[in-house]
Amino acid sequence: AAVRKAIDAGQPAGAAGAAGGDGHQPIRTAVVRAAQLARDAEDNARNRQHAKGKNTARERLDLLLDTGSFEEIGRFRGGNINGGKAGAAVITGFGLVYGRKVAVYAQDFSVRGGSLGREEGEKICHLMDMAINLKVPIVAIVDSGGARIQEGVAALTQYGHIFRRTCEASGFVPQISLILGPCAGGAVYCPALTDLIVMTRENSSMFVTGPDVVKTATGETISMNDLGGGKVHSTRSGVAHYLGEDEADAIDYARTVLAYLPSSSDDEPPTYAYAVTRAERETAKRLATIVPDNDRQPYDVLDVIRCITDYGEFVQVHELFAASAVVGFACIEGHPVGIVANQPNVLAGILDVDASEKIARFVRLCDAFNLPVITLVDTPGYKPGAEQEHAGIIRRGAKVIYAYANAQVPMITVVLRKAFGGAYIVMGSKAIGADMNFAWPSSQIAVLGATGAVNIIHRKDLQKAKETGRDVDELRARLVADYQASTVNANLSLETGQIDAMIDPEQTREAIAESLRTLAGKRRVRRTDKHHGNQPL
Ligand code: HXC
Repeated sequence: AAVRKAIDAGQPAGAAGAAGGDGHQPIRTAVVRAAQLARDAEDNARNRQHAKGKNTARERLDLLLDTGSFEEIGRFRGGNINGGKAGAAVITGFGLVYGRKVAVYAQDFSVRGGSLGREEGEKICHLMDMAINLKVPIVAIVDSGGARIQEGVAALTQYGHIFRRTCEASGFVPQISLILGPCAGGAVYCPALTDLIVMTRENSSMFVTGPDVVKTATGETISMNDLGGGKVHSTRSGVAHYLGEDEADAIDYARTVLAYLPSSSDDEPPTYAYAVTRAERETAKRLATIVPDNDRQPYDVLDVIRCITDYGEFVQVHELFAASAVVGFACIEGHPVGIVANQPNVLAGILDVDASEKIARFVRLCDAFNLPVITLVDTPGYKPGAEQEHAGIIRRGAKVIYAYANAQVPMITVVLRKAFGGAYIVMGSKAIGADMNFAWPSSQIAVLGATGAVNIIHRKDLQKAKETGRDVDELRARLVADYQASTVNANLSLETGQIDAMIDPEQTREAIAESLRTLAGKRRVRRTDKHHGNQPL
């Protein structure tokens, strides 16, 4: 470290005391040369990157890591100090995020377009091996033209090595990818295999084949941004989990998410001091007024979430994608949790293919990293229609079930309003594996909504009424009202133990907190010796 600091300062280690002909001249010359090389490289990087509205790789590391905490590995690896080449196109090392260690690699676009050759691949793999060994998260800062064309298939091989390590680390240490420049070709699968992808509105792109190849192959003309920019991947493809307004915002999001996650699956998430305030009781009372009496009227489930979490804080994942579901991180009494909720404000909170995958992937993330899952239910069910059936709602909707049924973290579910049919079962029901289930008095739990149910079970009565000239609409309305009053509620679920208690909305935070305390020691149980399940994909 003394040598590294001396290099940064452009001074040989122990320079002050060693001035004068002491026989250390060759060493000092080499260190000074290396320091100069490093400064020139950063000057060059600044010129090239700033001209494109981007930070340099080192400036990004400064934004990501606690001040002065970066410890670089292999600074000059792949360089030629006498030949004036500072090093490889990737910077690797360790640093602290809110005081906790992370491994990080940052591709340096100012060096051969950040492209990945043998040296870069080996540096990244070495860092990943160390991170897995040390059980710390891995953050990748991507800004690269992809496989180094001059190195041919040797460069491609390095991607294979990185893919393999990313899979090895998956579910063991958190992995976050910040895409702050191009990420093209098969290289996109490096971030794709990680837990979270963060992009920016400008200068960030991901595509398997770029606009030129698309034009040649299909004749389609499309810009880089429309093909694979941050906005497209955050709103349409779901590839990105957060869209940063700029690099600083994107990096800040990565820091925030890391604050909720443990360093590895062997660790518990960090905990934070939390003191109950009088405002909390006032906030709890607000819960009683959020869900409208009219069950066809939407409301914002974020209002419910903010009344339940510490300081009303909630960090969304996939905020702009599949908005009929909401997922994200929060704390309850200082303990990080994952929250999954239907969003009645968007398509009544329906489960479509995208919402299903959004929920499933988030539950898997929470389960891998020991975060309890709190589920807030208000959904009319899986989305009907040919478009969804043909998009694979059977296969993709199954992922929600697979995620909940296999999760072994504490799971607490609150039915706020509608929980119809399959959605009642898949959204963290007790039958599927949740530990504690509650219902608000406004709960409507049934196989079908009242109108749908009446149309089926009273079809003959309605038909007969029509044939005998009676008022069919009046009869249907009466039957619907009867069904609603007698069946569409939480009674049967309470009587069969599928719901543990009916709670007033204002008791929700306390009920969740108490359940979390009860479930704190929940152990993971391995029931069979199989290699792994065959998840629907
Ligand atoms: C070697 C590369 C390079 C690459 C860029 N450079 N990409 N050198 N291999 N893959 C170099 C350029 O020659 C240039 O060098 C410098 O980096 C900056 O590049 P520019 O083109 O000037 O930058 P820009 O205009 O911003 O364009 C960025 C870009 C473009 C869109 C990324 O460079 C590009 O299209 N690159 C090639 C992308 C690509 O097809 N990669 C292979 C993907 S396949 P000088 O010396 O002039 O400054 C792949 C397979 C992975 O990655 C397989 C995994 C299974």
